[in-house]
Amino acid sequence: MTIKKTIAIASAKGGVGKSTICSFLASSLSKNHKVGVLDADVYGPNQDILFGINDKNIEIDKSNQDKPYQPKIIDNISINSLGFILDQNAAIWRGPMLSSAIKQIYQQTNWGDLDYLLIDMPPGTGDAYITVCQKIIPDFAILISTLSKLSIADLKRSEDVFKNLNTEVLGIVLNNIHQNDNLGNFNLDTENMILDRLEFNKSFIDTSYPFKNIETDISLSKTLSAIHKHD
Ligand SMILES: Nc1ncnc2c1ncn2[C@@H]1O[C@H](COP(=O)(O)OP(=O)(O)OP(=O)(O)O)[C@@H](O)[C@H]1O
Ligand SMILES: [Mg+2]
Repeated sequence: MTIKKTIAIASAKGGVGKSTICSFLASSLSKNHKVGVLDADVYGPNQDILFGINDKNIEIDKSNQDKPYQPKIIDNISINSLGFILDQNAAIWRGPMLSSAIKQIYQQTNWGDLDYLLIDMPPGTGDAYITVCQKIIPDFAILISTLSKLSIADLKRSEDVFKNLNTEVLGIVLNNIHQNDNLGNFNLDTENMILDRLEFNKSFIDTSYPFKNIETDISLSKTLSAIHKHD
């Protein structure tokens, strides 16, 4: 089993579009590559909905002691989620339990050979970040933010966390922006890190894979080419 590139999709601020953009990137990358998606959001896993997975029972291969979890496979995408392997009580777990659950799902999933493993991070900057950066060690992170004072403040926090944990930030995707938004108002000193800007789009709200009518390749073209350039 080899995973060529591991990418964390992250933001300290909640609800800015991490899970949506993670699934769009997975969909675009999977056209020419083998992709895995690890939903590491114990408090609100969403990749099952984005990929239209109704059967959340995870298949366990007892003959494979090291990697018993069989991911859900949709086309070229292998998906596993903390939501599949944990019960409702996990939503009130403390940090150390959360950390070991993330490590376990990463290590014990039979991912096969992947070109890219995308990790859909929970909001925040806490234990999940430390575990992912120190135990999974992603090749880089992609940060998501909206253009609001509060989200930009949290974006700076996310940048600091990844810097402290020695994880490269590949770039920033601005999401949910409006045509008239003026970036200049937001005092963002990492403006040169912005890859793509996705506008508010009503059709994102109820969408699920294969994301018909959403041009994920075009919307995320700069992010996708930055990912390819990193190869
Ligand atoms: N560009 C967009 N236009 C319209 N709606 C969007 C856009 N991006 C995301 N959304 C919607 O915003 C909501 C939050 O998105 P999403 O769940 O992807 O964010 P998140 O950062 O993963 O949230 P959390 O921090 O809770 O994990 C969802 O209902 C999603 O459909
Ligand atoms: Mg999410």
